[in-house]
This record gives sequence, C-alpha cells and structure tokens, in this order.
Amino acid sequence: KKVGLIFGGKSAEHEVSLQSVKNVLEAIDQDQYEVTLIGIDKEGRWHLNNASQFLLNADDAKLIELNKTNHGIAVVPGESENQLMSLNTTKSLSQLDVVFPILHGTLGEDGSIQGMLRMANIPFVGSNILGSAVCMDKDIAKRLLKDAGLKVAKSHTYTRATKNKISFDAVVKDLGLPLFIKPSNQGSSVGVSKVQSQEEFTRAVEEAFQFDHKILIEEGINGREIECSVLGNEEPLASVPGEIVSNGEFYSYEAKYIDENGAVLEIPAKLSEPLTAKIRETAIQAFQALNCEGFARVDFFVNEQDIIINEVNTIPGFTKISMYPKLWEISGIPYSQLIDKLIALAIE
Ligand code: DAL
Ligand code: MG
Repeated sequence: KKVGLIFGGKSAEHEVSLQSVKNVLEAIDQDQYEVTLIGIDKEGRWHLNNASQFLLNADDAKLIELNKTNHGIAVVPGESENQLMSLNTTKSLSQLDVVFPILHGTLGEDGSIQGMLRMANIPFVGSNILGSAVCMDKDIAKRLLKDAGLKVAKSHTYTRATKNKISFDAVVKDLGLPLFIKPSNQGSSVGVSKVQSQEEFTRAVEEAFQFDHKILIEEGINGREIECSVLGNEEPLASVPGEIVSNGEFYSYEAKYIDENGAVLEIPAKLSEPLTAKIRETAIQAFQALNCEGFARVDFFVNEQDIIINEVNTIPGFTKISMYPKLWEISGIPYSQLIDKLIALAIE
C-alpha cells in the first residue's frame, strides 16, 4: 500500500506534528507500506519526500518552541492552500492508496485537509469533514455533547464582535473562580489561561483572541484529568483510561511539551472498576455524538459527582509516548500495530 504521511502544517501545533510524524516514520512497517512524506511548512507550502526533510531536521529534538509567529488563524484572505501545492505534490497525492494526516490544529484537524482529500477521492485516517470540524471548535462541540446528554463545563462564548460585552463581574457571578479562558479553535492549550483576578482575566482574554475570533470563558472544574482513547468506525472501542497528573496550575503547553517535570501520565488511571467502565462508555458516546471516525482521544474531568467532558481530539498527539498510543499499548495494541489498524480503518 502507498501511504502518504502529511505533517507540519500552518498551525500553532506545527512542532507537535513534527514529533508525532518522526515517531510514526520510525515505527511504520516499511515492508508493508511505501511511504510518501508530505511536509507542510509554516507558510502553508507543500514539500514532497526528500524536499520535506528540512522540516523534520529544523526541529530541535527536545524543545518544542511554541509557534508564536503564526497564530494559526488560517489563510491570508485571497490566498488558498491549494495554490501553494505544487503540481508534483498533486500528482503524487492522486497515486496514494491512503493518507495519514498527522497534523494537529488549524487546517489539519479541522476538516480542511479532510475536505481536500475527500474531493480527491483519497481515503484517509481519522474523522471526516464534519467530525473534524465540530471537534475543533470547542464551542460547537460542547453544544452537541450537551444535546447528547453528556456533561461539559459551564461556559460563556464571545466573538470579536461581542468582545465589548465581556464583564469580569458578571462572568464571575455566574461561573465563579478560577476561570479558564480559551480560544475556541486551538489545540495543545495554546492561548489558554487560568485566571483568578480581573487583571489576569483582561490579559487572558486578549491572549485568547490572538489565536481565534471566538473564545470560551469556562468555569474551573475541580477534578482529576482523565483521558480515554477511542478506536474504530461504526463500532468503536475505548481503551483503559489514563490520568494526567500536572505539577503546575494546569496542563499547559509548557507542561505538555517543554517542562519535563510538568506532568506525569498515570497509565492506567487508578480508578474503581465501575468508574472505569462508565468513563469508557462515555468516551464512546462522545465519539459518536461528535461524528468521529477512526480515532480520537476524549479528555475528561472526573470528580466524586461527575464525569465531565473537556474536549475530544480527532488527531491526538501521536508520539510513541503520547497518551493516545500509550493507552492502546496497555490495552494490548502496540504502536506499530495501532498504525496498521488506523490505516485499515481508513480503507475499510
Ligand atoms: N492537540 C494535541 C496534539 C493533543 O490533543 O494531543
Ligand atoms: Mg485539544
């Protein structure tokens, strides 16, 4: 099978994608698959095979700097990603049997590339356009989850147009403190702040608006951070849950990728059997409510009373030490077999 690995991307999570693809390249069975590398640089230009190597080399192996120059607010008006794809790339794409888009965030995880591949009639790993798009937008995803009877953190949504209506006092009266301020469309906690005061709040709102035209102001939930991996199409399976034990204020971008002591993954999470079963069941319900396919990682806050869904990631971090593959490994599917399964699910 001819497999295309698309990586990098014009997104604030460009560097995270590089880490994921390096690991996939190491583990993918090259006897079984003929791999074509398709790297997208931060300007959105596409580079094929050897020409894409510079992207992988550019990345320092350990430190992933946050891509501050590009806030992932998609395409410059009038400019299309397609125009930045060379004829060679287009030709190579059409010869592939399947594509694994290992892209996180804007244009990679939000339905954009999924739409392009669909138009080109190339099967691809992961959710289709709709599932990708709704999961990328936390505001929309929360509404669908609520509609399915699932619990989410209470929040207020604002756009640039309604920004002047934001009142710290009114928000605190309804949601209490601390608050989490988040861009609606982002990943890896880019642009996310936890705030306790008016001053922090004002700064955090500005910060979040740098990354999206829509932001969420969310109540802080007191609970353990539990994550569950889901795999499959029509009849998806859920892995055992894992836990994020953060050492900082929250599981920030730094804690995820830069600070080695930022967080510890507890796999499997120490939870009672009934609670484990309930979390797995809820993860599948969320996956289905949001139209996911192939794979997704469902993130929760869990406390004595509730199982609350934080969000669903349709292309979760995919290095061999990332939560998604680690949870399958302990559930009996090692990393390279997981890649096989994902490819099989894409073309089934
Ligand atoms: N958005 C990052 C890659 C994750 O969910 O793992
Ligand atoms: Mg995310």
